[in-house]
Amino acid sequence: MQLHPDVERVLVSQEELAEINKRLGEQITRDFKGKNIIVLGILKGCIFFMTDLVRNINLPLSIDFMAVSSYGSGTRSSGRVKITKDVDIDLDGFDVILVEDILDSGNTLKYVSDILKTRGANSITIVTLLDKKERRVADIKADYVGCDVPDEFVVGYGLDYNQQYRNLPYIGALKRSVYE
Ligand code: IMP
Ligand code: MG
Repeated sequence: MQLHPDVERVLVSQEELAEINKRLGEQITRDFKGKNIIVLGILKGCIFFMTDLVRNINLPLSIDFMAVSSYGSGTRSSGRVKITKDVDIDLDGFDVILVEDILDSGNTLKYVSDILKTRGANSITIVTLLDKKERRVADIKADYVGCDVPDEFVVGYGLDYNQQYRNLPYIGALKRSVYE
């Protein structure tokens, strides 16, 4: 696989992504036995991670999506979060597994999980593929983490810059020259 010319280096390879999905899927399968699961993806970044993850969860479950916007065209969160697509399914009585591509400042997930807490869910669990811990501002922690990433702008496997690069099959660090 040739590296995209805008990518500085690969941070998480396709093989590592497959291992992460297997590990998290097995953990969730163990931890959620007997629960009334709904896996709720935050669009659009979650798409590949979520579809790979749920196929590693060996339990009955429903899936749904929410879309929120918090980023403009830059590389920093605006802090203003807006729901642009809400869930279709009534969350009452469900154990919600919230699936996010990356936990950065934490503003997005804090906002979303606070809203979901008012919707009658039994429990809310946060799964993030990537965790940029250094940049956390909001008081929020993921329950399941694929892997930590350094404070660099990353793209691929669902993650974008200006809506591009989502289709790269690996997670790569975007060259600074692309966004500076
Ligand atoms: P937060 O609200 O700052 O935690 O930002 C969360 C959202 O910002 C994520 O769901 C991503 O969509 C986006 N984001 C944060 N860091 C990156 C990155 O390095 N690459 C691509 N998107 C990012
Ligand atoms: Mg996102």
